[in-house]
Amino acid sequence: MKVTRATFDDVMVPNYNPAKMIPVKGEGSRVWDQEGKEYIDFAGGIAVNCLGHCHPAMVNALTEQGNKLWHLSNVFTNEPAIRLAKKLTDATFADRVYFANSGAEANEAALKLARRWALDKHGADKNQIIAFTKGFHGRTFFTVTVGGQPAYSDGFGPKPGAIEHVDYNDLAALEAQMSDKTCAVMMEPLQGEGGVISPDAEFVKGVRELCDKYNALLIFDEVQTGFGRTGSLYAYQQLGVTPDILASAKSLGGGFPIGAMLTTAEIAEHLKPGTHGSTYGGNPLACAVAEAVFDVVHTDEVLAGVQAREELFKSKLAEINQRYGIFQDIRGKGLLIGAELTEEYAGKARDFLNAGADEGVMVLVAGPSVVRFTPSLIIPEADVLEGLARFEKAIAKIVG
Ligand SMILES: Cc1ncc(COP(=O)(O)O)c(C=O)c1O
Repeated sequence: MKVTRATFDDVMVPNYNPAKMIPVKGEGSRVWDQEGKEYIDFAGGIAVNCLGHCHPAMVNALTEQGNKLWHLSNVFTNEPAIRLAKKLTDATFADRVYFANSGAEANEAALKLARRWALDKHGADKNQIIAFTKGFHGRTFFTVTVGGQPAYSDGFGPKPGAIEHVDYNDLAALEAQMSDKTCAVMMEPLQGEGGVISPDAEFVKGVRELCDKYNALLIFDEVQTGFGRTGSLYAYQQLGVTPDILASAKSLGGGFPIGAMLTTAEIAEHLKPGTHGSTYGGNPLACAVAEAVFDVVHTDEVLAGVQAREELFKSKLAEINQRYGIFQDIRGKGLLIGAELTEEYAGKARDFLNAGADEGVMVLVAGPSVVRFTPSLIIPEADVLEGLARFEKAIAKIVG
């Protein structure tokens, strides 16, 4: 059956408005559409395809597991899930893992766990969750309400309660909100969707101290920063601050849907049998692929390579900027890079995304005025240079 972009409009709910072309094949950091046109992929499925497209380690893991066992439900456990959980706990602060299917679900589990922990230990009054404006934590109603973007959470009727927001990097504002009623503070250790905004080192330390002072849990949403993207397995490992709960997804599966919530043994105790669950969470196919991704990403070679690629990206973007003067800031960490447009081009990030696609390079936006780059962690240097050359052509067309 021949399908086209026009078919999409006939059969799909219109909550997405995808590009006009339909990608059909990917290899490494290159993608081809139905017409055979080639694109360099700097988007990586929104920070998901951390090993590019069809990495042999992932294809092998999926094929091998696909010939063995696909699904059983959580009435039974399975070997890939246990092996992946062991690797994640060995490599992080965490002692326990809960598997989900997406970032929102990992965050949903984190928030429910924090509420249950507070109820069990401190009583019903300790239920306040504080998060940050411009934060993004997913689209379930709980997580989207905790996310600090009302445009995403308004319009669906009464919201889950006891959720407050303060500005990111404003420690005084956080302190003013916190009390013994605070059950958890949820934050991204580098805001992705909100515009690629890094936290001040002092701010993150201060958040931890306030959580300790008021006996509140610190939840790091590492769905976008996680799994190698900032040059360490998780971003917290470079910040000198350890959360109580961490949510991971996106790169964790490298393109296969999986999410995970990581926490300590003591906190995990509060999700007793029957309190939470998922049919697919911990699915053997997903865990086998994630284990293969883990084995490749959790190496000095790949993690050090992220830093080298960050330097290459940022220096080339700065060179382009010298010629066109369209960015007022080039920022981010590792391969989560944001280039904020000058006042003249404010609000036009999507024009750059579209012009890039026309020239054969996929980029992302993070809000209306930031162009975002989240390529594969192992993207070859030649692809970085070729993709940025194509992006420069797109800029030239816009600037005229
Ligand atoms: C920081 C963060 N948390 C949560 C999510 C939601 O993840 P998912 O779309 O897999 O539910 C995202 C997605 O962009 C994200 O960037």
